[in-house]
Amino acid sequence: MNVYSLFPSLVAKIKVQHHEKLKKLLVPSLVKQYKDNPDLELPWARWANTWNINTNISGNLSFRKYIDEWMQHFNYPKINYDITYWTNIHEWYHYQEVHTHMTNNTFLSGIYYAQFDKDDRPAEFINPKDQALTYTTEVLGKKLEHPFFQKYSTDTGLTIEEGDLLLFTPDCRHFVPSSKDKHDRLRITLSFNAHKIK
Ligand SMILES: [Fe+2]
Repeated sequence: MNVYSLFPSLVAKIKVQHHEKLKKLLVPSLVKQYKDNPDLELPWARWANTWNINTNISGNLSFRKYIDEWMQHFNYPKINYDITYWTNIHEWYHYQEVHTHMTNNTFLSGIYYAQFDKDDRPAEFINPKDQALTYTTEVLGKKLEHPFFQKYSTDTGLTIEEGDLLLFTPDCRHFVPSSKDKHDRLRITLSFNAHKIK
């Protein structure tokens, strides 16, 4: 019997170079913005309980090298693109509901975990076949243990530490759960979309 694992979701995890330096540069001013305006939300976040704000990242701080690495890995042609960044700051109770990043010619998205405690939870990607998996599990009375058959990305072994960067195709459905435990630390991520321009 030959088994084919058809149609994967593409997610890459990368350790960001100079994370500690980058964190020192970014986090203090972001926390100040959060403390000064604790109710800010981008328009698309209206169903979530989150805090986010568009963020300017340029020059050496840009994540362009990681995007280029992805493009080279898959042998995509060179294209012109811009990167739109935004920051998410979460208290333990904040969350974001299921969404994708398919907007504005986005071809690749990223999440950089700038400040992330071991008790915080990363974005969860959802298996595109989640409904079929649930159905099959109910019919056959057994949930398969192989990573291909898990519903959520953390169940496949995709764990996150502070300083990690996730790259993913913008069609990947994902959400951000709240922290399991009440605490007073801030979970800070920098997200971005790379979108094609002429
Ligand atoms: Fe997202």
